[in-house]
Amino acid sequence: RYAYVNGRYVRHTDAVVHIEDRGYQFADGVYDVCEVARGFIVDQTRHLDRLGRSLSELRIDWPVHRNVLELVLREMVRRNRITDGMIYIQVTRGVAPRDHVFPHPSTRPSLVVTVKRLDPAIGEERAAEGIRVITVPENRWERVDIKSTGLLPNVLAKQKAKEFGASEAWFVDPDGTVKEGSSTNAWIVTWDGKLVTRPADSGILRGVTRTTLIELANKLGLEVEERPFTVEEAKAAKEAFITAATTIVMPVVEIDDEPVANGHPGTTALALRREFFDIAE
Ligand code: PDD
Repeated sequence: RYAYVNGRYVRHTDAVVHIEDRGYQFADGVYDVCEVARGFIVDQTRHLDRLGRSLSELRIDWPVHRNVLELVLREMVRRNRITDGMIYIQVTRGVAPRDHVFPHPSTRPSLVVTVKRLDPAIGEERAAEGIRVITVPENRWERVDIKSTGLLPNVLAKQKAKEFGASEAWFVDPDGTVKEGSSTNAWIVTWDGKLVTRPADSGILRGVTRTTLIELANKLGLEVEERPFTVEEAKAAKEAFITAATTIVMPVVEIDDEPVANGHPGTTALALRREFFDIAE
């Protein structure tokens, strides 16, 4: 298995970054994750657009030209012979003696790319069963629109979910509305068949899978309402599901130990999951 580190393809076990990398010391960096399906990087353009936005919000330069990064991604899929899995891209502000202010003159940003092979059959099994989620109070900073590597609240929330026997934790605002999962966006399907998901400019990450699914739903003639929904509304909804590059569409069958509808994966969610894989390229 190979990793890419600052211009080199190295054995995964030998891949290292400097101890004074600002990503390591300050989480001063950003990342993005793409799904790989049948050897193709799904929604690569949207993921790289978002990476560019995360970088510019933190005033970090592209570590290499975007075209070069595209070549690196393709080469990583090829060298590691990935047909199904994911690709992780991380950029930090670079290596400099520890100091909170930006290094001056600016350092070369660090670029790391790793891949992970995933068995598509496992995803299908999980989707057929549906997953459980818990809810936790929102405790993240306001700039969750930036895909920063600073993920401690997300890590703690996901761990809490795991200890509850659940797979995801939904961050909930004091007004009872669901923000998003620790690494996924949240959706419900109403009893009259509308898809509901929180507006992307209201304190969540603009998920690429979310954007693509809205387009897909429109194409299929399904109505999409971008508005906040509460935990209570989700429990009483016809269906609930989550989206992310790592899970695509995953039905939610339980929220805080209470079943969603009859406690079985929703037919809309499962149909959208199938459709998504059909258009994925
Ligand atoms: N997470 N919300 C959060 C907080 C996320 O971290 C992610 C993605 C999403 C879904 O975005 P997308 O559809 O573009 O994957 C929503 C990645 C997969 C991760 O952290 O591993």
